[in-house]
Amino acid sequence: MEYLIGSDIGTSAVKTVLFDKEGTPVKSFSYEYPVWQPENGWAEQDPEDWWQGVKTGIRKVMEESGVDPKAVKGVGLSGQMHGLVMLSEKGSVLRRSIIWCDQRTGAEAEWMTEHIGRDRLVAVTGNPAITGFTAAKILWVKRHEPELYEACRHILLPKDYVRYRLTGDYATEVSDASGMQLMNIRERNWSEEICRMLGVDMDLLPKMYESQDITGYVTEEAARETGLLPGTPVCGGAGDNPAAAIGTGVFREGRAFTTIGTSAVVYAVSDEIRIDPKGRVHSLCASVPGKWTVMSCTQAAGLSLQWLRNNVCTEEMRKAKETGEDAYNIMSREAETVPIGAGKLIYEPYLMGERSPHLDPDCRGTFIGLSAGHERKHLIRAVMEGVSYSQKECVDIFREMGVNIEDMFLCGGGAKNPFWRQMLCDLYDCPVSILRSEQGGALGAAILAGVGAGVYPSIEYACERMIERKETLQPIPENTKAYGPYFELYKSLYGTLQSKFRELAAI
Ligand code: XUL
Repeated sequence: MEYLIGSDIGTSAVKTVLFDKEGTPVKSFSYEYPVWQPENGWAEQDPEDWWQGVKTGIRKVMEESGVDPKAVKGVGLSGQMHGLVMLSEKGSVLRRSIIWCDQRTGAEAEWMTEHIGRDRLVAVTGNPAITGFTAAKILWVKRHEPELYEACRHILLPKDYVRYRLTGDYATEVSDASGMQLMNIRERNWSEEICRMLGVDMDLLPKMYESQDITGYVTEEAARETGLLPGTPVCGGAGDNPAAAIGTGVFREGRAFTTIGTSAVVYAVSDEIRIDPKGRVHSLCASVPGKWTVMSCTQAAGLSLQWLRNNVCTEEMRKAKETGEDAYNIMSREAETVPIGAGKLIYEPYLMGERSPHLDPDCRGTFIGLSAGHERKHLIRAVMEGVSYSQKECVDIFREMGVNIEDMFLCGGGAKNPFWRQMLCDLYDCPVSILRSEQGGALGAAILAGVGAGVYPSIEYACERMIERKETLQPIPENTKAYGPYFELYKSLYGTLQSKFRELAAI
């Protein structure tokens, strides 16, 4: 039997999975690490934690499975997108990584728009200046920590730092790199023009590959640390969302998925570049050669519920500890007892500013309509509904752009909850499916590695063979109708509060 490894470097943990050739998970291992939030709206992680997570994960799945390292045909990496990793000449990390949800770069994004022009940025990179994307983070370091930029010789994305530790190569691939905002997404390579105008030295950037290409081989040193054989191929892999796309079979036009993890993403593939002129959703290169993607990102999706759990639902946490049940299950059961509309309580999920559909680093979360009659269960339902309204707003934009969504899949932690799944289905007002495998990003990365290593002839072949639909949900018409007025009100709230968010940020 041949095997493949996929490692998905998330925001809360790395998940490493050893798959057999049929896509069946043989062993998996999760390794958690912290996020630092040194200031309001900032978010950083230590790249060494990612490497410890991947190397421990690979060693564990190899040891526990007893699989012969010779049978491992390739390793694929998937990872949180947009994070900035800066390395010295010798390859040592110069500062903690500024990660995707960090919002410190409002001024840099504004400067990008003034200096390059919004239309030119959109035409070349596919997107207006985005605070969360890597280019603005590089400019921030240049401005605030010039000595670090001076010392920097290599700029990498999170999963590409792990690649460097595994193979010694400075390499990336199109799906993740297009989220740096330094590429010409039509040409699928770095844009000399954008780098020049931003003053980013192109020598700092890694070599570009397609997601399925082999970018290097496991070194002797990494082999000793992981238990793999030296020379095992490591393929490009993909950003976590484009990797999840492969892992859910979203490799062709007509298919889309919604994932609810720390962030929530709606992701669709297209044969041509499709750009929202209003910049409400992102256009990037897909992890399939010759295809592009339209993608939205709600910054604080699962994060909103996690925040509520940690700060408000202490009773549910206590019960969970006592019974061994997941606190989220207890919370969800309570939310289910509250009717649609959460007792006229509406939540906006802007805990980390927002990207889609409102590109705004200054907006913050709100509860509108709190009354003395509300209990924790209303807050829980309101948070789940608010996160879902944000997905519905993005799906409506996709539809308005003419992005064809025939088949919507749900994945990520949030999709494991049947109540949340039905809520999304009712709001989207279309059938949604879940898959047999819940491995998303790790499976996608392993499939890409399998294609690169010649285990599968193509991404399409591998997906058709391995990815199986488990269940399709239908919208419940009376629920769809009942959500209507709350959703309309939710949509109007951002515009009403926008200037107040700015005032608050400026105090
Ligand atoms: C997508 C994005 C997030 C991260 C989190 O643009 O920023 O989904 O990739 O993992």
